[in-house]
Amino acid sequence: MRILITGASGFIGGRLFYSAPSGCEVWGTYFDTPNPVDSARLLPVDLRNQVVIETVLQGIKPDIVIHCAAYSRVSFCEREPSAAWVMNTRAVMGLAVLCGQRGIRLVFLSSDMVFDGEKGSYRESDRPNPINFYGRTKQAAERRIKDFIRSAAIIRVNLVYGKPMAGGSSFSEEVIREVQSGRPYQLFADQSRSFISVQNLSQCIWEIALSDYSGLIHLGGSEPANRVTFAEKLAAQVGLDRQLLIPKTAEELSPEISYPKNNTFNISLAQKTLKTPLLNLTDGLKLEYPG
Ligand SMILES: NC(=O)c1ccc[n+]([C@@H]2O[C@H](COP(=O)([O-])OP(=O)(O)OC[C@H]3O[C@@H](n4cnc5c(N)ncnc54)[C@H](OP(=O)(O)O)[C@@H]3O)[C@@H](O)[C@H]2O)c1
Repeated sequence: MRILITGASGFIGGRLFYSAPSGCEVWGTYFDTPNPVDSARLLPVDLRNQVVIETVLQGIKPDIVIHCAAYSRVSFCEREPSAAWVMNTRAVMGLAVLCGQRGIRLVFLSSDMVFDGEKGSYRESDRPNPINFYGRTKQAAERRIKDFIRSAAIIRVNLVYGKPMAGGSSFSEEVIREVQSGRPYQLFADQSRSFISVQNLSQCIWEIALSDYSGLIHLGGSEPANRVTFAEKLAAQVGLDRQLLIPKTAEELSPEISYPKNNTFNISLAQKTLKTPLLNLTDGLKLEYPG
């Protein structure tokens, strides 16, 4: 089985690249982040260029593409909507067409940001209604994929924490970095998510990629929390000074961007479908940050 992971220099793609199950021949792409290992199977690729994507697929001939590359920052997408659209929607459409033509299985990473956060506990059957530009690019990409390949797996990922193995960063690493440097860290107190450990997530993604699962699936941890509750549990696990965590509202910290209030997932489909259990915060934090 030959698998191509786009965005293998990023937080999630890097973890997938370095945790591939045995028997998989894994290739990865990066854009401008240098890679920690000098692997002949890591290729510099600008995925905004359809001709380049075609050349890469032609050369590698993967059975499966796990598409992790994206502009993943909500603030960047809000500031640079045209660039975000090109990368997060148009490039995905191009990739979907090529995968469809070549019979390549496509696994696409979408986001909980496709929801408006008014309801919470979102199921796969709930109607998306993104309220920021990043969410709109992801919803549009999902639609394009469904138009071109019915067999694709579309994984909506909730907020991911843990240690990067290649590039990229995570909310937990940002909290640790700021608090360890002795600076007060302001964080949203009014946003609930289904935080998931990157190791737990990668195991689930590999299980889905190597199965014939198609359609939407929500992956998040089994214990919803807001960012303050999460950061306090992280502080307890890692030994950080909790006094430096300063709760604020999203409106106070980021008035120019709309953030959903409650984007937690109902994960019963994933729990029924996957052998990998979705962890609660205590177990997930122990896995990422063992004492
Ligand atoms: N992290 C989360 O909490 C989270 C939550 C929900 C959904 N997601 C989704 O999960 C996926 C992976 O997220 P992540 O956190 O791993 O993102 P990330 O760390 O920001 O990584 C993004 C990747 O995209 C690559 N990339 C950027 N521009 C590119 C271009 N023009 N051509 C080719 N590659 C390019 C980057 O390569 P270089 O670094 O080499 O430039 C990097 O490998 C994304 O689709 C994201 O939207 C993430």
